[in-house]
Amino acid sequence: MTGPHERILLRGARWVSAHADEGVHDLVLAGGRIEGATPDGPVDREVDATGLVGTAAFVDPHVHLRDPGFEAKEDLASGLAAAAAGGYGTVVSMANTDPVIDDPDLVRSLRERAAALPGARLRPAAALTMGLEGTRLSDAAGLVEAGAVLLTDDGIPVANAEVMRRAAEWAAALDVPIQTHSEDPDLRADGVMHEGEVSERLGLPGNPAAAEAVMVYRDAEIARTTGARVHIAHVTTRAALEVIAFFKARGAPVTCEVTPHHLTLDHTALADYDPIVKVAPPLRTPDDVAALREAVASGLVDCIGTDHAPHTRSEKRMDLLTAPFGIANLEVSVPLLYERFVASGDWPLARLLELLQDGPARVLGWDAPRLEVGAPADVVLLDLETPRPVDPATQRSKAAFGPWDGEVLRGWPMRTFVAGREVFARTP
Ligand code: DOR
Repeated sequence: MTGPHERILLRGARWVSAHADEGVHDLVLAGGRIEGATPDGPVDREVDATGLVGTAAFVDPHVHLRDPGFEAKEDLASGLAAAAAGGYGTVVSMANTDPVIDDPDLVRSLRERAAALPGARLRPAAALTMGLEGTRLSDAAGLVEAGAVLLTDDGIPVANAEVMRRAAEWAAALDVPIQTHSEDPDLRADGVMHEGEVSERLGLPGNPAAAEAVMVYRDAEIARTTGARVHIAHVTTRAALEVIAFFKARGAPVTCEVTPHHLTLDHTALADYDPIVKVAPPLRTPDDVAALREAVASGLVDCIGTDHAPHTRSEKRMDLLTAPFGIANLEVSVPLLYERFVASGDWPLARLLELLQDGPARVLGWDAPRLEVGAPADVVLLDLETPRPVDPATQRSKAAFGPWDGEVLRGWPMRTFVAGREVFARTP
């Protein structure tokens, strides 16, 4: 691992973005920034990147890092290290911690603590309502001033439409995006999986697809009428995608994300009652999964959000009714998506990069990450060739287990640099 002021020469990678394949050249990182293709002074370190593909480190608009309060599941150090190992240079942490991130001082404290850690950059989200209780609005202006980049009660849907409307009016005035966990709480009720033939066969309480579609309609209509930028998290159903397409076609400022698990697993994964695949919103039908993939290919989906949701192994060993919702996936998402969709020929590599770079930056109102001279030296080197198994023993997350363990994938991040500092190196 390296200090921030070193001059590092990355030798011989092929450099790509969502917009161009620049071919093979060297790249120099110095003073935390991209210096160019040739060093402007003595080099402290050379990295042989021959055979690797280099690109701007990825942005994840949706991670749960559990800190403060739930450090047995994950903490800032393990979560930001896991993000770096996943190829991410920047992650947006959710506010459902204990205490909830509804106080500007908590936002400042998270940023200060994260800045001292070697890993991905942290850009915290803050709560939309106090305590995520869905009734009193948080101090949006104070939270944004403290550095919150997104307002969200994610984990819990905002049940009250009037509260969502007022929150959206504030967000529009402050020009900060809102992220919604769009599920109707009454329709979702105590569902632990998708309501359908599998839940009926297993005798488990179901969460109907309509719970998502009706709430996405409400939240998109609030975006349209208030002008607030509303980002719909973790879309799972064909119906919700149709609603989003309807509102996008009318110019509503709505964006949406899909997760790696909803793109690769369906409700039949619960057939042996394994809580590892219990997630909210739930894994849906094969037809919904097909719709998500089509919406990625068509451009309707703006970005990938991992919704990395770590829990302890013992919590996820409880029975399906009591185990918590969530899959920890930061370290496996990029190779999983690369193997399943790019190596398979379904999506060009440029589309995957767009979903991990330009897309999330656009959702958040940021400049897209680019490896231009003078830009922050946030770089990932990927090995697109070598198959490697998903190996929990090598993972940084405290929740080093998941539905893809043992699966052989290509597309692994080999090194990640944030502000010119190496924050992850995979032993080959
Ligand atoms: O599966 C989930 N887990 N979905 C959410 O929305 C929240 C998350 C968590 O915090 O565990």
